[in-house]
Amino acid sequence: MASCFVALESAANTIAGYYTLAAASAHAGDLPEEIVRRLPRYPLLPVALVGRLAVDQRFQRRGVGSALLADAALRALKGDVKAFALIVEAKDADAFSFYRHNGFQPSASRAEALFLPLATVRRAAATRT
Ligand SMILES: CC(C)(COP(=O)(O)OP(=O)(O)OC[C@H]1O[C@@H](n2cnc3c(N)ncnc32)[C@H](O)[C@@H]1OP(=O)(O)O)[C@@H](O)C(=O)NCCC(=O)NCCS
Repeated sequence: MASCFVALESAANTIAGYYTLAAASAHAGDLPEEIVRRLPRYPLLPVALVGRLAVDQRFQRRGVGSALLADAALRALKGDVKAFALIVEAKDADAFSFYRHNGFQPSASRAEALFLPLATVRRAAATRT
């Protein structure tokens, strides 16, 4: 149901982290108000769902999780099936802080859902090239 992407630590030949990516849709009412204002008035909008994101404890707080999110955003941007944002479901307060640190905006109606508009990622990628 989803593609799984794995970050390998080459020196130790071990898995440092992973995430899954799947096509999904979001209810317009769940989106942050400042995002939905700029979108067509469709009841459902196409998004890419990042799931199962996890980093091995030995590799945490070294930027691996953020790099995996950036990888997911770039894959969603390049995909032939269009999504306008990444969506995640934060499983606890720590995960919520991590996603906020990475530019995700909280949903208007569901505390655990956060969105990252891919237009933001496209602009950030353009300024780096
Ligand atoms: C959440 C998780 C993926 C973060 O991965 P990571 O590689 O440690 O994250 P990064 O090093 O890229 O962190 C970047 C920033 O996010 C924030 N952050 C990361 N982990 C955090 C935590 N546990 N609590 C609060 N903020 C956190 C910090 O601001 C951090 O920057 P800093 O280290 O300079 O303070 C990892 O802690 C993990 O696998 N947790 C268990 C599984 C999980 O909760 N997955 C999310 C499912 S919704």
